[in-house]
Amino acid sequence: RRHAVALIPGDGIGPEVIDASLEVLEKVARLHGFALDMTRFDWSCDRYLATGRMMPEDGIDQLRPHAAILLGAVGWPARVPDAVSLHGLLLPIRKSFDQFANMRPHRLLPGATGPLKSEAFDILCIRENTEGEYSGAGGRIHVGTPAEVAVETSIFTRRGVERILRFGFEQARRRSGRLASVTKSNAQKYSMVFWDEVTEEVAADYPDVTVSRYHIDAIAARMVMAPETLDVVVASNLFGDILTDLGAAIQGGLGFAPSANINPDRSQPSMFEPVHGSAPDIAGRGIANPVATLWSAALMLDHLGEEAAGRSLLAALSAVTAEGRLRTPDQGGRACTTDVARAVADRLS
Ligand code: NAI
Ligand code: MG
Repeated sequence: RRHAVALIPGDGIGPEVIDASLEVLEKVARLHGFALDMTRFDWSCDRYLATGRMMPEDGIDQLRPHAAILLGAVGWPARVPDAVSLHGLLLPIRKSFDQFANMRPHRLLPGATGPLKSEAFDILCIRENTEGEYSGAGGRIHVGTPAEVAVETSIFTRRGVERILRFGFEQARRRSGRLASVTKSNAQKYSMVFWDEVTEEVAADYPDVTVSRYHIDAIAARMVMAPETLDVVVASNLFGDILTDLGAAIQGGLGFAPSANINPDRSQPSMFEPVHGSAPDIAGRGIANPVATLWSAALMLDHLGEEAAGRSLLAALSAVTAEGRLRTPDQGGRACTTDVARAVADRLS
């Protein structure tokens, strides 16, 4: 078996965590009897400064033949405005390949310490990734005058809401059979009431899944106070954005938080990336935590149908965090990026 994977290391610590992950990926592939045909793309802020573009004009077409994209991080705000780098690379990829489901597993790896006392923290957040509050519809009038008005309209389509909920129900079926739908339908009487109605319609097709509905404020508190009552959580673009940062904090910080941008239609590549950015404050020192990227790579293996390899990568990763001997400085240790990745590679069997 062979899988074509596009690598976009990007900026800052992006190339550091991606390079460290390659050795692990190559070994796990070898052990499980498949090959990863990896093509590296130097698309980044450096490229923008040299050529005026974050990626070539036909960049999306170059990515299209790949089964998956593994991305490090994009952005170097001191040299290129975030709006330019984000809109020149990350957002076009998510949009062009219609990666509508942003999946973020939140779990405490063994040995990881979050701010909660409980270790029963194992939640899969699924964030709608294409519409809703981030649709960009709106405008401003009377700019700069006392009469100024700014409007930003959320756009929820039946197609968009239905497909993210179906995706969530499928995931719930594969996990505990419990799904939480997140809204604010007591205050937002059009879009969120609509979301509730679609939830009910889709739920009828999944009688085996138990559905709970929560308002965003209530579920934020619940995630901290009673996380064991939650399993699969489905939320709109804005609500999911906020909840997943809370989830990342609880699971031990950005160094530990993986994500997947999924289009379940396999004719289009899905993209796997750590939640964190390019971390300019620590870039170039070789001390970035590679756990989030390695975990994202495990999600990628699952998506490629190499579930056994994904499981053994996660098991090796857990063994290293459990042992606790090798921690990067963000976790209070002194190990460097490559030490951790090499330990994970050594644990693979
Ligand atoms: P950031 O995630 O890069 O860094 C926030 C803090 O977390 C920093 O103190 C950093 O050192 C630390 N940190 C992050 N990842 C770490 C890791 N793996 N190991 C150890 N420490 C880690 O967020 P920030 O500083 O707001 O953004 C920097 C740049 O990254 C910006 O240009 C931003 O737009 C971009 N960004 C890109 C993302 C992406 O590519 N998907 C996501 C988030 C931000
Ligand atoms: Mg966010």
